[in-house]
Amino acid sequence: MNILRRLPLVTQIKPKLTLHKGFFSQKRNDERLYDEILNDDSEYLSFTEKYLKLDPSKTCYIIQPYVKWGPQKKEGITPEEQLDEAKALVNTLPSWDVEDTITVPLESLDKKALFGSGSLEKLRQLIRGNAGVNAIFINVGTLKKSQLLNLEKEFGVPILDRYKIVMQILKLHAVSKHAKLQVALAELYYVQRTTFREENFGKPEREKVKLMFQNREQKLKNAIKELRAERALLRNKRQKIDYPVVAVVGYTNAGKTSLIKALTGEEKLKPRNQLFATLDVTMHEGMLPSGLKVLYVDTVGFISDIPTNLIECFVATLEDAVLADVILHVEDIASTCFEFKRKHVLDTLRDLAAKAQTSDVLNKIVSVGSKCDLVPREVNVGMLKVSSKNDIGLDVLRLKLEECILSNTNRKKLKIRVPIGSEAIRWLYKNSTVICEIPDEKNSQFVLADVIITHGKLSQFKHHFSP
Ligand code: GTP
Repeated sequence: MNILRRLPLVTQIKPKLTLHKGFFSQKRNDERLYDEILNDDSEYLSFTEKYLKLDPSKTCYIIQPYVKWGPQKKEGITPEEQLDEAKALVNTLPSWDVEDTITVPLESLDKKALFGSGSLEKLRQLIRGNAGVNAIFINVGTLKKSQLLNLEKEFGVPILDRYKIVMQILKLHAVSKHAKLQVALAELYYVQRTTFREENFGKPEREKVKLMFQNREQKLKNAIKELRAERALLRNKRQKIDYPVVAVVGYTNAGKTSLIKALTGEEKLKPRNQLFATLDVTMHEGMLPSGLKVLYVDTVGFISDIPTNLIECFVATLEDAVLADVILHVEDIASTCFEFKRKHVLDTLRDLAAKAQTSDVLNKIVSVGSKCDLVPREVNVGMLKVSSKNDIGLDVLRLKLEECILSNTNRKKLKIRVPIGSEAIRWLYKNSTVICEIPDEKNSQFVLADVIITHGKLSQFKHHFSP
């Protein structure tokens, strides 16, 4: 059923706004989108698709500002490591290129044009003399609107921040309706924040525009809410099947999909050396050493320095993660700043848990150091090391997961004595995991079954079959 068609119709206000001359004369993509948002009253889904248009390819100059001291100084990651991440972000976009990079020290991130006049002059010379450059990526979370405008004036090319670049990648990978809606909502926030210039409108017009944005936002949120309800239904159904769930979380590109593929042997999974390759939650069935079936949930990767509202767009998706029986946190130990990334992932999980009103998230986490084939053997990272590539540590990990699942889901390993071919043994096969059954040496009419069973099912069993 097309959920979008069931959306309540929000009264459409046709703005037909007269914008100041020249406002759209040199339209950037954001401005075009903004124009469309204001003047579009087309069918809902096609409207959402508009958010997913990619910017034309760009050759970027990447600037990494860093604050040398004080509260805005970044701990745990060097400017060079940040630059590497910025390059990886740009290289994820097909036909986008990095022309050159530079790190620039700052006293704070709050200046009107971000940089001081000396740095600006130096950057102007570097970039203006570089004819190939048609965009500048300043690797900070979000630039203020005034900073964006000042810098664009200064350099004469579009200025992109981390939010903008991450948005492009998300658009590229949004496949399902849910992912598209979430990306559309994130894009709406961005366009609203960067492109809506109050000074271009008279007071009544300004109010109309604000209302338009609110309506759009509400529509997207309603649609997401409906899908969220469907997810909850699915979750309930899953609980009925009674498979324990392991959510696999981690910083983007940590090796989550590869690990799930290695643990389940699922061939169609395609790990990619791309950031945010996975936008939708996907489920994959695996088996633990005792034969217990388990569902692995692949989730969207985390990344630092993006605004909360971008994360919030993905809360629905990540709800599956925080509500899982075990959270497998994959940490790429080949990354030099994996401790910084760990902190970011744990902080985000904590926030999400608070939103989902679950408190025991941190107790459910099992951490693994992935890509251990890339680091010397003797390096001790204080957690189990695995390599999906070379099949290292996977059996130990399966055992560890099983142990955690048993304790987190109130499952027990038991030996149960039942008559051969009885209703009771059939019931056990249906309602628990029978690891093995051996004949009872003392009485050949009986078997001893090793089973893994939930507390609830055990009570049912006793109720039905106890003499
Ligand atoms: P996102 O979807 O972006 O969050 O990524 P992810 O965490 O699912 O990572 P993915 O499994 O897609 O792997 C990212 C890259 O790391 C790919 O190029 C993998 O081939 C590589 N990789 C994953 N595991 C290993 C490993 O054990 N060893 C080595 N050498 N490379 C690995």
